[in-house]
Amino acid sequence: MNTHLIGTDVNRIDGPAKVSGAAKYAGEFFAPDMLYAYVVSASVTHGEIKSINIDKAMKVPGAVKVFTHKNRPHLPWFDRTYLDEDAPIDGSPLRPLYDARVHHNGQPIALAVAETFEAARYMATLVSIEYKALTHQTDMAIAIHEAEKVKKTNRAGIEAPPKLRGNSAEAYAAAAIKLDKEYHSPTEFHNPMELFTTTVVYNSDETLTIYDKTQSVSNSQLYVTNIFGYSKDEVRVESPFVGGAFGSALRPQHQLFLATLAAKVLKRSVRLTLTRDQMFTLCHRPETLQEIRLGADTDGTLQAIHTETFQVTSRYENYFEVIANWSGLSYRCDNVTMEESTVAMDTVTPGDMRAPGAAQGVWAIETAMDELAVATGRDPIELRLQNYADKDQNHDKKYSSKELKECYRQGAELFDWTRRKSKPRSNRRGSTLIGHGMAGGVWESPQMPAAAKASLSPDGTLTVASGTSDIGTGTYTAMAILAGETLGLPLDRIIVKLGDTELPVAPLEGGSWTISSVGTAVTEACKAVSKKVLKLAAGLDNSPLKGASLKEVEFSEERILLRSDRSRFVSLQAALAAGDGKPIVEKAKSGPSLLKQHGYKSFTHSAVFAEVEVDEDFGTVSVCRIVSAIAGGRIINHEAARSQIIGGIVWGIGMALQEEAVTDHQLGRIMNHNFAEYHTPVNADVHDIEVIFVPEVDDIVNPIGAKGLGEIGLVGVAAAIGNAIYNATGVRVRKLPITLDKLI
Ligand code: MOS
Repeated sequence: MNTHLIGTDVNRIDGPAKVSGAAKYAGEFFAPDMLYAYVVSASVTHGEIKSINIDKAMKVPGAVKVFTHKNRPHLPWFDRTYLDEDAPIDGSPLRPLYDARVHHNGQPIALAVAETFEAARYMATLVSIEYKALTHQTDMAIAIHEAEKVKKTNRAGIEAPPKLRGNSAEAYAAAAIKLDKEYHSPTEFHNPMELFTTTVVYNSDETLTIYDKTQSVSNSQLYVTNIFGYSKDEVRVESPFVGGAFGSALRPQHQLFLATLAAKVLKRSVRLTLTRDQMFTLCHRPETLQEIRLGADTDGTLQAIHTETFQVTSRYENYFEVIANWSGLSYRCDNVTMEESTVAMDTVTPGDMRAPGAAQGVWAIETAMDELAVATGRDPIELRLQNYADKDQNHDKKYSSKELKECYRQGAELFDWTRRKSKPRSNRRGSTLIGHGMAGGVWESPQMPAAAKASLSPDGTLTVASGTSDIGTGTYTAMAILAGETLGLPLDRIIVKLGDTELPVAPLEGGSWTISSVGTAVTEACKAVSKKVLKLAAGLDNSPLKGASLKEVEFSEERILLRSDRSRFVSLQAALAAGDGKPIVEKAKSGPSLLKQHGYKSFTHSAVFAEVEVDEDFGTVSVCRIVSAIAGGRIINHEAARSQIIGGIVWGIGMALQEEAVTDHQLGRIMNHNFAEYHTPVNADVHDIEVIFVPEVDDIVNPIGAKGLGEIGLVGVAAAIGNAIYNATGVRVRKLPITLDKLI
């Protein structure tokens, strides 16, 4: 039998290291004689620093230096007014300590450095700053009047809305059923458990070893080399473990720049950790307003979709996400207009946060579809099936696979959708209203260029390596599974290395593309090794594998077997013994096959079902059950996949009911910048969650057929919950989060 690791339940191979504390995170690396730094954040939202006095701070015992825009060294970065490679967004990235200007509240404006953390923190409180405050705007309701249309796809490949198709205005005017609603979603923050930390080790030869919290060591390395003028061999970045990131660590954050600056100038090792409240001065999911008009026949057949979307961005970078486009993708409709606008305000630049754009865009369209179901008296699933998109009309391309119908079917069956009462407020237990709702989810499944290395030692131990990250998603384990399956090795014979710029370059861990990209590279590197092993095995005296091709054999349980007669095999040990005593090392580079994928688009899909209980007197909501049926191609590690989707669902509960960063517009500052006041689900908010993966075979998406599951788990959850709340209460809330004040 084959080793068959793929698709089984495999415990994380990095689990023991994590629970025992052996796994080291960026803030846990030490260097002798290390200094500690602490950021001083701007307390105005827009303005200039008039004076900055560090005298008192420098009197603190252990004080080493306070960096400000006045005393910072000149750096290559400060000469560039053009875009940096690390920031593929139109605009100019914020350069801390560049000049006296303040662009957003909480902007780092000084860095206190001391012999101890406590001293640095105390120093930061003693830096006295005088500002010339200028007027600011942080209120989207006002700033929206100066919104600007997104006209072109940005440098990062974030798509502008596709050209309109048909004539949505005419079709809408002629439609029997018209819906015209506004959907509003708030600013949300990633809030990973691990704070942003960088430990810069200043080596005796003046090179740097940097331990960074990042979703890409090579991106951090590129950033440091560009900014400080180092060569690549002078800067090694390592990030073996990451305590959650969700997109917040795609771009290097300020602590990497500031810690490196301090280390370079002071010629000492430096650690800088941001505080929890400083985490609320960084990237976040932008606030959005979405206007959706749906025109349909009386039976619910869509005739027109018009989506106009507004999203907040900063004044110094025109960051945007794909929000409007999901409405034209999700359902078949020939008359579609999608418009995307950015609303620049005096805020920090937003950033990718788990399913950026889709989290908000799909919430709106899936809520609107529920409203259409109500308006036409159709069952929400039937309505969706009636408007099912068999191709991607946005790009006029076929889907490489789309088992969404099966998600609807299997999800509905497990959830027992038939017991739903379509009339709101008709299902109750005492003063508790019960509601059932559903929604669809969609996310893209791209493959990026990636490289990996596989090294098989003479003793049969395999090391696979790629400079990717594992931000908690299970990359270590997935790499081991794919390597083990390819070479017929048990997991305890496999060592996985990642998170190091010395390893073959991998893309950022994001976009749900790590499994498709790094997974493919690992598989191909291992295949290359297997070819060499087969050659050794076939070359043995009286080898049963003589003349056999790779296709004719199978690697399983540390043997190489003839597929046509499995009793004929060579053990891996025997094959390796015939080698030269050195490891067999192979590198592979993989990337999307344009030939194979031509004419296709690939997406993951989900159908999410929610049951809620709403207390009629208090308006409190409990999400008692969620069923999520996922079509994500081939599942590599069933256990990790399920966990990943559950994590997304829990996040969806937060998005639906709790998460909201509230700005005091007078100050331009986030008020609830801590875990006490920025609410996310806790155990008591999370009840029954069931995940199913529907079979989906896809030979086009990438060679391993896995679509990636990092983000799909979240998409659609908030809509399913909101739709269930409507079903329970008859109240439609179009402004997230759905808090009790909006229900009563
Ligand atoms: Mo994800 S938001 O691409 O880390």
